[in-house]
This record gives sequence, structure tokens and C-alpha cells, in this order.
Amino acid sequence: NRADYVRIVEVGPRDGLQNERQSIPMATKIELVERLTQTGLKTIEAGSFVSPKWVPQMANSSQILEHILQTNPRSPHPITYQFLLPNVKGLDNFLSIWQSQASTRLNAYPTPPQFPDNDQWPAFNTSSQDPNAMPAAPSGADAIGKERRSSSSSTAPEIELSIFTAATETFTQKNTNCSIAESLKRFEPIMTRAKELDLNVRAYISVALGCPYEGPNVDPHKVANLAVSLLEMGADEISVADTTGMGTAPKTAELLKTLGAAGVEKSDLALHFHDTYGQALVNSVVALEHGIRTFDAAVGGLGGCPFSPGATGNVATEDLVHCFHSLGAKTGVNIEKLSEVGEWISKELGRVNESRAGKATLAQ
Ligand code: HMG
Ligand code: MG
Repeated sequence: NRADYVRIVEVGPRDGLQNERQSIPMATKIELVERLTQTGLKTIEAGSFVSPKWVPQMANSSQILEHILQTNPRSPHPITYQFLLPNVKGLDNFLSIWQSQASTRLNAYPTPPQFPDNDQWPAFNTSSQDPNAMPAAPSGADAIGKERRSSSSSTAPEIELSIFTAATETFTQKNTNCSIAESLKRFEPIMTRAKELDLNVRAYISVALGCPYEGPNVDPHKVANLAVSLLEMGADEISVADTTGMGTAPKTAELLKTLGAAGVEKSDLALHFHDTYGQALVNSVVALEHGIRTFDAAVGGLGGCPFSPGATGNVATEDLVHCFHSLGAKTGVNIEKLSEVGEWISKELGRVNESRAGKATLAQ
């Protein structure tokens, strides 16, 4: 019974690292991805194919993709890797690696590794004795998220694409140098090509709960209309992003209600909270109670968007996992192993580890 399963999308290697000023060695980026594969996380956003002039830190994402395709880092279960891209140029750069590795992918793993299925996955301590523990979510699509294409018949790592637009014109201009309508136009050929190649596409909507340029009151109907357009275009999932951390519990609830009223299924949604105002966990619990079962987070609370001045990291994955486990939800993530990764990468970057749950877990 996976009714109370929550899927965590670890965005640390992309959102987490993209805003670091210092140049991070390739080996560190790869080691971060590899360490994360050992924590029970099943989805990792590993890099982005954006302009290196705009985001120099992500310039070598093609090497990360190449490494993943060539080595298929061993983990106790299959991992899905996501790569972010804004336009056809990004898609072409992605495909030049992905397609050049096609024969390697087919030949590299003649014997499919035997992974335990989800029910046999070693049970980490996710049970809760708390009488107020969250009741199991209703069965059906809402409970575990949309049925996603699985790589179980293939031994190559599963790759997905992420595209991104935003709920305000100013942010869209600052982040991608185009209008919202132009950004949707850019996605059409990406979507067509991705479908032909059988690649899942997730679509981010940034500044859904507050914009650094247009203020905290972003119209939830605008977010909902964009979500509907992106789904109609073929997006497999919408990640609704609180880029600035301006979201609050009531605003989160209102946005989710508005999305529901517009016909967006909970199972098509992921929530992506940044923690600038310390509200990310509260907002996550509100979303969980609304039936959302996919959440983005970054180990060690890394992260930030270079085009959202003052915005800090994503909600720390360790904090989110600790919180969800306390509510009786299962994530499959081993909090001890994850906390070690958070501490390690914080030290590598010379940053303070922003995960309180991670630090407390290690201090136990
Ligand atoms: P532009 O300058 O308008 O691009 O940037 P252009 O189409 O005019 O092309 C100019 C040059 O860039 C050309 O090269 C292109 O080939 C090249 P030149 O002819 O001068 O040598 N170029 C590219 N190179 C590599 N990869 C590409 C690419 N596209 C063009 N994909 C563009 C427009 C969209 C490219 C730029 O604005 C960009 O890369 N923006 C990305 C910004 C970004 O990465 N932001 C952070 C990620 S989003 C985020 O963090 C939010 C999220 O976490 C959710 C949340 O929290 O809100 C997802
Ligand atoms: Mg983000």
C-alpha cells in the first residue's frame, strides 16, 4: 500500500548549485549526484541546458548527463534524472549528448540489475505513533501521483526534461528574456520532440506565490491558467514554484484551491518551495493536506535563482523528509544518509548547512 507515499524531487544539483558564485569542480557536482543516489531519493534534477552566459555554473551540465548515461550510477533502485532547458537550443544541446549515447545505453547493461520493487524497499523508520498522524491519502490517482512511465523494462537511467516559465511578465523577461506567451511558443517544438522521443516533460511555473519585481500578490488565476495551458500542451507534471519564498499558508491554500477549480488534478502537481521567509515547511504541510504528493527540495537547503534577488535556498530535503515522516508519510529516503550528504556538500561549498533536521540528525 503506497497510499501515503510522497515523491521527493531532489533539485540540489541544479537549483542548489546554479546560484553559487565560485566555480564548483565537475568532480564535486558528479559526487553530489552519486551520493544522492544512495539515499533512497528516486528523482534528481541533475543540471540545466541554459545559456552559459546567463548561468555560468551550469555550463558543464552536458558532462554530467554524459557521465550519468555512461556510468548509470549504481543505486538500490532506478533513478530518474531531470535536466532543465528553456528553448530549442537547450534541447539540441541535450539531444546531442543523449542521442550520441544511445548505442552505449543499449549495450552497456546487458543484464538488468534486480531492484527491489517499492513495497520491498527497505523500510526506513517512517511509521508514526502520533495519534494525530496524517490519515492515509485516498487510494487512486491522487494518492500516489500520476502513473509515470517507468524504466523497469530498460536498464538505462530514466531521463526527463524540465521547462520553465513564470506567472509574471517581469520575472519571465528577467529569467528568460521573453514574454510569458513567447515562452509558451518556445515550448511547443520542445514538447513535440520530447513526445516523439518518449521523454517526460515537467513544467515549472515560477513566482507563483510572489514576484521579486511585481510584488507578493500574484494572481492565482494566472498561475492556474498557465498550468492548464502547459498541461494541454502535453506537460506531464507542473511544478508550482514559490521562487521568492513569499508564500504563506493561506496563500498556498488559496492557490491550490484555484488550481483545483480550474481543473488541474492534484496528481499533476508538484510544489517547489524556497525558504527565504522560513515558511517552506508550513506551506508544504498545507499542500500535503490538500492531497499534493510530489515536492521539490534541495539537500542542505542549497539553492536560489540568480534572477530572483534576495531569494535563498529551497526547502532542505532533510527537513521535508523529517517533517513528512513525522506525519506518517513514506518517502523512501534514509534521513541519516541524506543528512551526511547535506553536511558534506555544505562543507565542499564553504556554506552553512541550512538544514536544521540534517544537523540535528547528525548530532544524535
Ligand atoms: P538570449 O540571450 O535571449 O538568447 O537568452 P538568444 O536566443 O538571443 O541567443 C543568444 C546566444 O545564446 C546565442 O549564442 C545562442 O546560441 C545562445 P551566440 O549566437 O551569441 O553565440 N543560447 C544558448 N546557449 C546554450 N544553451 C541554451 C541557449 N539558448 C541560447 N539553451 C535564454 C535566452 C533563455 C537562453 C537565457 O535567458 C537563459 O539561458 N535563461 C536561463 C536562466 C536560468 O537558467 N535561470 C535559472 C533556472 S530557472 C529557476 O531557477 C526557477 C526554478 O527553480 C523554479 C523556481 O524556483 O521558481 C526552476
Ligand atoms: Mg527554484
